[in-house]
Amino acid sequence: MRFDAIEKLGVGLGFRERFRADVLLHRDDLDFLEITADHYLDAHDQKLEELEILRDHFTLVPHSLDLSLGSAEGIDDAYLERLAALVERIDPPWYSDHICFTRSGGVAIGHLAPVPYTREALDVFKRNIARVRSVIDRPLVLENISYLVRLPTSEMSEAEFLTRLVEENDCGILLDVTNLYVNSQNFDFCPRTFLDLVPIERIVQLHFVGSRRHGKRLIDAHLDKTEDAIWDLFREVADRCEIKGAVLERDGNFPPFSEIAEELRKAREILNA
Ligand SMILES: [Fe+2]
Repeated sequence: MRFDAIEKLGVGLGFRERFRADVLLHRDDLDFLEITADHYLDAHDQKLEELEILRDHFTLVPHSLDLSLGSAEGIDDAYLERLAALVERIDPPWYSDHICFTRSGGVAIGHLAPVPYTREALDVFKRNIARVRSVIDRPLVLENISYLVRLPTSEMSEAEFLTRLVEENDCGILLDVTNLYVNSQNFDFCPRTFLDLVPIERIVQLHFVGSRRHGKRLIDAHLDKTEDAIWDLFREVADRCEIKGAVLERDGNFPPFSEIAEELRKAREILNA
């Protein structure tokens, strides 16, 4: 598919309950919202009401956590059906999940686990993406995750795996610039070289937020203001391709909303430069 034909949304925020009043008060600062799909899959009436209010005011893009596209056992059909119903309900220009697995042997592992970069893993993704596509007919955009270990069984680099994954399955890329930065610092590689190696024209969306030092490592805690090194990487990506949407992902340590709005304005300036 042609990812350049997707409509450009601009700069948005990862919606959290905490922002419920603020997003309505600061509508002019938000071009769209990304919602965590999982929060609405078994939603009670109050949550569905919230979804309706958000939908009345914003374009919503669903970001799911638990498709587990890297699970060898396949896709959970019940989860897929519920996700498909949500996607249908909010009619987004694209939807996204991660390059990872979250279930193994029917057991939820509770976090986004990296897959080994192997031909076998690519085959698993291929099967699972085909299954998802048979139910949800929208552009699927896949996000790079941060990882604490590099799996020794990998047969190729992360950049090569990502490239094959999105090209073989015709998916877009949700480039989390913070995850790319964190991984590059923890595993000592150049994030710009990574960008040279991946099909940049498939980048549809960005995630950004500050990183946090935890002992010797950086982590993507989603708790901090975006730092200069991450803005530099954001700018670099924006210079190289047309980003359809950039989303600030803040999950805690919340500042006054004016500080969030300031980051959104800065992101918009970069996208429009
Ligand atoms: Fe992210």
